[in-house]
Amino acid sequence: MSNENTPEFRYADETEVRVSQLMLPGAANAHGSVHGGEMLKLVDSIAYVCACRFSGGLCVTAAVDRVDFHEPILVGELVNLIARVCYVGRTSLEVEIDVFAEDIPTGSVRHTNSCYLTMVHMEDGRPAIVPRLVCRTREDKARWIQAKTRRELSVRQREERERLVVKFGQLSDEELDRLVAG
Ligand SMILES: CC(C)(COP(=O)(O)OP(=O)(O)OC[C@H]1O[C@@H](n2cnc3c(N)ncnc32)[C@H](O)[C@@H]1OP(=O)(O)O)[C@@H](O)C(=O)NCCC(=O)NCCS
Repeated sequence: MSNENTPEFRYADETEVRVSQLMLPGAANAHGSVHGGEMLKLVDSIAYVCACRFSGGLCVTAAVDRVDFHEPILVGELVNLIARVCYVGRTSLEVEIDVFAEDIPTGSVRHTNSCYLTMVHMEDGRPAIVPRLVCRTREDKARWIQAKTRRELSVRQREERERLVVKFGQLSDEELDRLVAG
């Protein structure tokens, strides 16, 4: 692990990171709401902070496993991001991020995004071991199980994708035409 101050384990309920940012006109897309790419950058940045604090060293993004945009975010709203570590492997960890948009004058809040990123702790250019994650609340235990299931599904999906690329790459034009026609 990264340095002599890095503990053997960390509690899941102590991994939370919060960031707030006012959405200014420079973040807008062609429709006047906040550009999806701006949100992805914020999400990736908070995942980085959360993962580096947890591991006690530098981390890289290995995968943006899922980002759901439930509702648009408007220019002028305050975006509040909450990140937490919900699962760890040997050198990787999953960060869950919830995004809330706040209409500042009324204080009304909407849950706009749910995101899951896999980060890998690096030392000397190579993946390095992360602390264990100890889940002591019901919520953290549920998050752990859900994240473990997501990880297993994602490995199976990756294998299936690779199998399909090989399989369809070997088909003739006629066979492909038949499949496209349904
Ligand atoms: C991510 C990276 C370090 C993985 O390297 P690698 O040689 O595949 O390393 P390993 O096979 O030892 O995998 C390391 C861990 O990452 C996980 N991992 C690797 N690729 C992954 C992927 N695409 N999705 C999810 N997890 C992944 C592995 O499961 C493993 O986890 P574990 O140790 O907890 O079991 C490497 O692919 C890389 O440097 N990618 C570029 C990262 C980057 O530039 N990000 C954007 C800027 S930060």
